[in-house]
Amino acid sequence: MNILGIETSCDETGLAIFNPEKGIIADIVHSQVDIHQAYGGVVPELASRDHIRRIVPLLDQLFEKAGIKHEEINGVAYTSGPGLIGALLVGAAVGRSLAYGWDVPSVGIHHMEAHLLAPMLEEDPPEYPFLALLVSGGHTQLIQVDKPGQYHLLGESLDDAAGEAFDKTAKLLGLGYPGGPAISKLANAGNPDRYHFPRPMTDRPGLDFSFSGLKTHTMLVIQRSEDNEQARADIARGFVDAVVDTLTIKCRRAIEQTGIRSLVAAGGVSANTQLRESLGSMVHQVDAKVYYPRMEFCTDNGAMIAYAGYLHLKEGRAEPLSFAAYPRWTLAQEKNVTSKSEK
Ligand code: KG4
Ligand code: ZN
Repeated sequence: MNILGIETSCDETGLAIFNPEKGIIADIVHSQVDIHQAYGGVVPELASRDHIRRIVPLLDQLFEKAGIKHEEINGVAYTSGPGLIGALLVGAAVGRSLAYGWDVPSVGIHHMEAHLLAPMLEEDPPEYPFLALLVSGGHTQLIQVDKPGQYHLLGESLDDAAGEAFDKTAKLLGLGYPGGPAISKLANAGNPDRYHFPRPMTDRPGLDFSFSGLKTHTMLVIQRSEDNEQARADIARGFVDAVVDTLTIKCRRAIEQTGIRSLVAAGGVSANTQLRESLGSMVHQVDAKVYYPRMEFCTDNGAMIAYAGYLHLKEGRAEPLSFAAYPRWTLAQEKNVTSKSEK
């Protein structure tokens, strides 16, 4: 059984083929960073156009890499939300059309569900139930995963996502897009004792996050500080330490509250080295274990969509010929998801 996965929710065209016996047999990601860099962020119209331009040649490359023919595909999965509407529609239209042409079932996948399942592609995957810290450009959520499709939202950001805070703060520091990796690198050269930024919402119970105040705090510090490389590095360090500490404190709280000792960290920000170090020492203290997707599957990719697609198609979920994209689809709208208030 071979499942084709298509990811086009934002600025990466990601394609992959998953086979339950062999794992990911081929994957390709084309990043649009060069296109959006000049604008300091993703320009939705340019993103959709680039997906359109790239997707068919990339599909050809994928099949060549996998060494299989189109006839060997048994199902197609595409990201149907959340994300940029135009970008989502490219993947959905191509995915649904291919499935129609090949006469195989297809299924639209929730992008965040795919992120949280990505560590299942690794050699030593977590067992269910596990906790998932989802940290991407658009989301910061703590989710209890009882089994595939059964999710409880434990907490989420009330404003900016962690990745968004990284990107916006990087911009304030004059760093390029995407800001996450750049600010993390600069922070390594910074003095950890120079600034102590607030750890938002850690002084009250609960598992929600808030990062917009931290971004404003950083802006005020930048305005008041001298303008040189060391000062910027010290500020970056203060900021990264605050975000990482906040995420770690909430994960520890979730482990203690639920008694679940497996933690998954996924989404773009889970590629962050400071976060990985911090979560690593925290889980050691509470006798838990943390799992990550491999680095290239932390950020957007087709492999996680192919894998999530396999799980859905295996359960017999397939969609009619019509297809849709849901730019604001929340995981809590999925069938088997309970929101905080229901729990
Ligand atoms: O999951 P992702 O690729 O796309 C979304 O679904 O949003 O996440 C992208 C986000 C961006 O905000 C980017 O700055 C952040 O992940 N990111 C990082 C790192 N790599 C990517 N943030 C901090 N440190 C990193 N190494
Ligand atoms: Zn993502």
